[in-house]
Amino acid sequence: MDVVLIGAGNVGTVLGRTFKQVGHAITAIWNRDSEKAKQLADELGTVAVEDLKELPQKADIFLLAVSDKSIQEVAHQLTITAGVLVHAAGAVSKEVLQGVSNDYGVIWPMKMIRSHMSSLGSSAIIIDANSASALQVIESLAESISRQVSRADDDKRLQMHLIAAITSNFTNHLYHLASDYAKEKEIDFSLFYPLIEGVIAQIKVQDPEKAQAGPAFRGDRVTIEKHRSLLADEPVLLKIYDEMTQSILHKFGHQ
Ligand SMILES: NC(=O)c1ccc[n+]([C@@H]2O[C@H](COP(=O)([O-])OP(=O)(O)OC[C@H]3O[C@@H](n4cnc5c(N)ncnc54)[C@H](OP(=O)(O)O)[C@@H]3O)[C@@H](O)[C@H]2O)c1
Repeated sequence: MDVVLIGAGNVGTVLGRTFKQVGHAITAIWNRDSEKAKQLADELGTVAVEDLKELPQKADIFLLAVSDKSIQEVAHQLTITAGVLVHAAGAVSKEVLQGVSNDYGVIWPMKMIRSHMSSLGSSAIIIDANSASALQVIESLAESISRQVSRADDDKRLQMHLIAAITSNFTNHLYHLASDYAKEKEIDFSLFYPLIEGVIAQIKVQDPEKAQAGPAFRGDRVTIEKHRSLLADEPVLLKIYDEMTQSILHKFGHQ
């Protein structure tokens, strides 16, 4: 397929690389900071344009990979005569693209993407479209880079985005806080990798409810108070510890 990339941030860069690797042609790139567009165009062997109006007006896909709040504004500066316009956001309605192209939709890779990644790798991709013909093109593009492609409308995708934030962004933040605490106490954080991996292995084969363990799960208030006393000088961690503990106590009937 011919793909026009609009945006050379994390997603534009990594999806651009991935599309090229599987045989699609990136026909042009635009980015607000034109230096970044040039760099990515050099890497992908294509052209960078400085003005949105210089982009090709026809392509199979126009991928709008700009920040959520600028999607609508950038989209409405495009001139598309043929092709499917997609954005990559989990939490933005596809309807912000209405009126720019007859065919439009969404290709949301459900993954934390950083521009240093050489390709997308394993990732579910959630798609949507305003028409059967647009859906066919988007589905075919998504299936060329992912084995897990599902369709969800705007409401369902937003719910998925919330679940992704909790399961990925929030858990990583907890790892971040725990790793800072481990550093401060001179404890090797890599000792905890098998524990972390064990939870992921468990929730793939049974409901997360069945995988729960720990003092709050057992209603062990003595150990909870010992933990809390360690956090006397860590107000942020103590607040999170208390919220999590209350939630687990409540779920397992200890209140
Ligand atoms: N990163 C992820 O993990 C991830 C995963 C799935 C989906 N997404 C979605 O992918 C899209 C892009 O995210 P990203 O992580 O690639 O963002 P990013 O790395 O922060 O890059 C933001 C891009 O938006 C451009 N931009 C920002 N404000 C603009 C404006 N007012 N006018 C024109 N361009 C503007 C930036 O241009 P400059 O370079 O000139 O600043 C840059 O190209 C978003 O819709 C996001 O929700 C991201």
